[in-house]
Amino acid sequence: MNESTKRDAPVAPAAEASEGGAELTPFDLLALEAHDAGSAGSEAAGRARVDQLAQRFYDIMEVQEPALAMLHARDAQGRIDQGSRERFSLFLLGWLGGPGEYMERYGHPRLRMRHARVPVDIAMRDAWLRCMSQALTDCGVSGELRTFLDERFAHVANFLRNIEG
Ligand code: HEM
Repeated sequence: MNESTKRDAPVAPAAEASEGGAELTPFDLLALEAHDAGSAGSEAAGRARVDQLAQRFYDIMEVQEPALAMLHARDAQGRIDQGSRERFSLFLLGWLGGPGEYMERYGHPRLRMRHARVPVDIAMRDAWLRCMSQALTDCGVSGELRTFLDERFAHVANFLRNIEG
């Protein structure tokens, strides 16, 4: 493990879940809870739920946290760029314990490095977390999985702070 991998270590909730002896990753749980009973538990159901979460997250950001939304690449209509949404969705897929396609396509997330141009202070961190919290609620993520994800997102968001205040 090199230095930058170590610095980015807190970004893997799935790995931590399995260290604790749990068999199921957050991705598995999201798939199992899928509302479409016909596909519940399948990889496709998990993917659909993760993508719904990512899209909802940015939709909320556009409306409720304009200062944060402005830091993101936007399309001609002023919406947060579809490419950014897709990369975040793919990242979440792997981060939650699903297929590691983000890593295959883009390499290690190196979140601190990729956020280096973004001023992350306490206000931005909290704005990001408010969007994610609302998106998780809207996507019906609750119970122990919700508590676990709230903690993990809070941890990573705090780890990404790179300016005082
Ligand atoms: C703490 C406050 C945060 C702020 C202000 C922030 C802001 C941003 C911005 C401005 C981008 C660039 C998007 C673009 O170029 O359009 C980005 C990308 C990204 N963010 Fe964050 N972010 C935050 C937290 C997080 C957290 C907690 C995670 C993970 C759990 C995360 C994961 C990502 C990923 C995966 C990308 C895409 C990287 C790529 O280009 O492949 N961010 N973020």
